[in-house]
Amino acid sequence: MLYLIGLGLSHETDITVRGLQAVKKCKRVYLEAYTSILMAASKESLESFYGKEVILADRELVETGSDEMLKDADTEDIAFLVVGDPFGATTHTDLIIRARELGIKVECIHNASIMNAVGACGLQLYQFGQTVSMVFFTDSWRPDSFYDKIMENRKIGLHTLILLDIKVKEQSIENMARGRLIYEPPRYMDISTAASQLLEIESLRKEQAYTEATPCVAISRLGAPTQSFKAGSLKELSNYDAGEPLHSLIMLGRQVHDLELEYLYEFVDDKDSFKKLVLQDQEFFKPPPYVPPTEDDFSN
Ligand SMILES: C[S@@+](CC[C@H](N)C(=O)[O-])C[C@H]1O[C@@H](n2cnc3c(N)ncnc32)[C@H](O)[C@@H]1O
Repeated sequence: MLYLIGLGLSHETDITVRGLQAVKKCKRVYLEAYTSILMAASKESLESFYGKEVILADRELVETGSDEMLKDADTEDIAFLVVGDPFGATTHTDLIIRARELGIKVECIHNASIMNAVGACGLQLYQFGQTVSMVFFTDSWRPDSFYDKIMENRKIGLHTLILLDIKVKEQSIENMARGRLIYEPPRYMDISTAASQLLEIESLRKEQAYTEATPCVAISRLGAPTQSFKAGSLKELSNYDAGEPLHSLIMLGRQVHDLELEYLYEFVDDKDSFKKLVLQDQEFFKPPPYVPPTEDDFSN
């Protein structure tokens, strides 16, 4: 059996009881180590909590070396641990399809994900549109596909969860060219970089999917002992120091419920100016008043 086990967001003890029972009986335990991190735990603390070795699985192993991971999984139990939920944001469907092709049974043991825990900032999950991800811009690669998705969400009044890039086991161009297996330290995109990249793309596209004044919420280290939230304009958050990773950013949509606003006040510098930003933003993409069809509309 291949077990895909969600670890939750922060502590080694966030694993579910069923997840822990599965880990304990597995012959090999892999930890997916490139799409997220457990903020209050480490490989070593997981090993001492489980009482067994944990093998770090980088992108290469999961995406191209999955047969090695799945070796003997038709007769033995293998665990693949994913921070958050195995289907939260990063779906490990390739691995599951490969296991099925090899006749290996698969069981998923779910856990909390950034995708649902963001509700902790007070915005209602039902009011979110498409989630987008933002990568680190380079001199020659500044992808802006998130812009159209944010536009679509905001046109129908919905909030956008923006997940931020993580770079682990990256080689510098020089090391890659020389074939040296030397890796750069991990990098995690922070709130101010994400907000600045959003503003840069708006200044190029000029379609006003959002502006400097659009209200946003910065989510830092959700589920960790130092979790924090900060609400403000996109411009304000482009200068905000959110501290240690991980960070996510939410851009509000037009449909802000009174209770959502009330909850967000806890995270603002100035309640009145934040309320003003939200009210101003509600004018964006406001639908025209509904006019019921007349008989003439049906006569042709
Ligand atoms: C590709 S997603 C992986 C999600 C994970 N599988 C889950 O279910 O939560 C990773 C990104 O989500 C966001 N994220 C994940 N956990 C977070 C947390 N605890 N606090 C803030 N942002 C988080 C960060 O932007 C991070 O780069």
